[in-house]
Order: sequence, then structure tokens, then C-alpha cells
Amino acid sequence: MSVATAAAILAALGGVLWLAARRFMGSNVQRLHQGLMRGKTVLITGANRGLGRATAAELLRLGARVIMGCRDCERAEEAAGQLRREVCPAGGPDPGPNSGGAGELVVKELDLASLSSVRSLCQEMLQEEPRLDVLINNAGVFQCPYMKTEDGFEMQFGVNHLGHFLLTNLLLGLLKSSAPSRIVVVSSKLYKYGDINFEDLNSEQSYNKSFCYSRSKLAYILFTRELARRLEGTNVTVNVLHPGIVRTNLGRHVHIPLLVRPLFNLVSWAFFKTPEEGAQTSIYLASSPEVEGVSGRYFGDCKEEELLPKAMDESVARKLWDISEVMVGILK
Ligand SMILES: NC(=O)c1ccc[n+]([C@@H]2O[C@H](COP(=O)([O-])OP(=O)(O)OC[C@H]3O[C@@H](n4cnc5c(N)ncnc54)[C@H](OP(=O)(O)O)[C@@H]3O)[C@@H](O)[C@H]2O)c1
Repeated sequence: MSVATAAAILAALGGVLWLAARRFMGSNVQRLHQGLMRGKTVLITGANRGLGRATAAELLRLGARVIMGCRDCERAEEAAGQLRREVCPAGGPDPGPNSGGAGELVVKELDLASLSSVRSLCQEMLQEEPRLDVLINNAGVFQCPYMKTEDGFEMQFGVNHLGHFLLTNLLLGLLKSSAPSRIVVVSSKLYKYGDINFEDLNSEQSYNKSFCYSRSKLAYILFTRELARRLEGTNVTVNVLHPGIVRTNLGRHVHIPLLVRPLFNLVSWAFFKTPEEGAQTSIYLASSPEVEGVSGRYFGDCKEEELLPKAMDESVARKLWDISEVMVGILK
């Protein structure tokens, strides 16, 4: 055997061992102390799968009352049942916030593609929930074919930005009366490829599914920064994050040829984050004392990161805010 072949075999073996260690040792998942979120109520959108589910699991473990805002209550109840079994292995009802154990899980219906559904959830929240300590705007749609929401908005812009815009605005009073409280916004690094085209926010003139996803995530960052400015002095903070590349169901609309699928699965298993790893920054921003009082910042891997100038443009952020208010009917 030549030296080169031996070196190649050793390198391949080293790579396999590294990947196996990374996968099976869960190295990037930090353990916060149990009880950190006891007495706190958290609303997470899209909590029945992926990053939202992993975020819900950890906040439940930390003692929070976690409200899962999901569009399909059957899927959400199923996920809630599994989470209860995982986090409260003794089974039965959640131990409750005063038991010293995990928190509570509640499912509420929320379809972000319907402004009336957003309004109904908020009305229910205001009637039934005495407090809201953390709102996590997590749900998202990625690169779907051209579709419209119930109210006629392009789906990605409508769900990722406008639905959450209305939700947050209608819950601001409750967040303020529960202060100190936090809003966590899940964006994406792909914001870099987006632009806010005020002439065609609904993509009626042309539709590019990748560009529209990026634009919705750029809008999300501009929204966060404008909201942080408006919330100064209220003790309600808002921060935005990117989770990295995570192995979830987000790519459901992306067609991968049958023959390439096994390779894709292998590569994603090896190199993408698990949902638990991807949820770390959401959990950190929702619960860590380290970010108490920090607002309007952009995070990745639990650290602050820099934004491109286009995501910090205050005049675009203000204009987008004003237009969004009209689109969702807050201002006529
Ligand atoms: N995965 C990544 O690599 C990655 C990278 C960057 C950013 N992100 C962002 O991370 C967030 C979570 O995504 P994920 O990766 O966890 O994807 P996922 O597994 O597809 O989960 C998305 C969640 O959003 C919900 N959702 C979609 N449309 C909705 C609507 N109209 N109303 C209410 N809920 C709706 C889904 O509900 P159903 O189960 O009913 O469909 C699901 O619970 C998204 O905002 C995504 O853009 C993810």
C-alpha cells in the first residue's frame, strides 16, 4: 500500500470518527439550569416540529408555561403529547409551575396565513393569559410555489413577516404589562440575498421563490430593529437570530431528485445541525440572563453578529413598518 493510499484511508477514518462523535455526543447543546423559566409564559409559533418543537422542549424543561401556536391543532396535540413524555417521563399531566419540575404545555390554534386567525389567537391570549414573558416568532415557510394567504398576500412575505407583524403588535400590551419581557425573532442568513421592493411586495409582477424567502427574512430583521427602537424604555426587548443550517422539514417545497436524495440525506445528517442544536440561540435569547436588557441585535450561535447595511437602514425599516401596518389593517 502506498503512503498516499494509507494517508487517504486514515483521513477518511478520522472524518467518520469526527462525524460520529459530533452526532452522538450532542456537543453543541448546552444545559441551562432547570427552573430558570419557572413562572414564565412563552408563546412559540410553529412549535409542533423542527426548531419550534426543540425550543418548546427545552423551555418546558426549564419550567416555563409553553403555549404552542400552531395551525394544525391535531398535529400540535400529537407533538405536545410526545414532548410531555420526553420532558416529563413519569407521564400524566404536566407537573405545573409550582412543582419544582417541568412546566406546562398548551396548544392554541394559529394560522399565520390568516389575519383573522392571528386576531382570534391574540383575543384568546388577552382574555385567558394574565402574562406573556416571551414571544418567539419562529414559524416559517421556505421557497413555496407562488401562493397567497387568506388575505391575498404572497405566502412567504405574508406568513414570515406580516402574520408575525400583526401577532407581535396585538400582543405588545400584554408583553409590556409583563415586563421585563422578550421577543425573539427567527430569521435566516439568507436575508443577505433579499431586497425590499416596495413597488411589488406581493410579487405579483414577478415571483422568485428564493428571493421572496430572503426578502421575508430581511423584512423580519428590519421589523426587529424598528420595534427595538419603538420599545426603548419599556423593558421589552426584541432580538433576531439565524439558526444556521438545520435538518428540519423546512425544505418540504424544494424538489430533490430521487437519485440524489440518499446523498443529500447523508450530507445533511453529517453536516447540518440537529433541531436541538439549531434551537440553541432561540433558547438563549428567550432565557439567558446574559441578554437581559439587550435589544435590537442579531445573533447566531448564541453570539452577536454583524448585519449588512441594508438590514440596518432605518428609513427602509420605518417605511416597511408603516406599509405593514396598513397591509394588516392596524392603520386604515
Ligand atoms: N432549518 C433551517 O435550516 C433554517 C435556517 C434558517 C432559518 N430557519 C427558520 O427557522 C424557522 C423554523 O423552521 P424549521 O426549520 O423548524 O422548519 P419546519 O420544520 O418546516 O417548521 C416550520 C414550522 O412553521 C409552521 N408553519 C408554517 N406555516 C405556518 C402558518 N401559516 N401558520 C402557522 N404555522 C406555520 C409549521 O407548521 P406545520 O407543521 O403545520 O407545517 C412548522 O411548525 C423558520 O422561520 C425558518 O425560516 C430555518
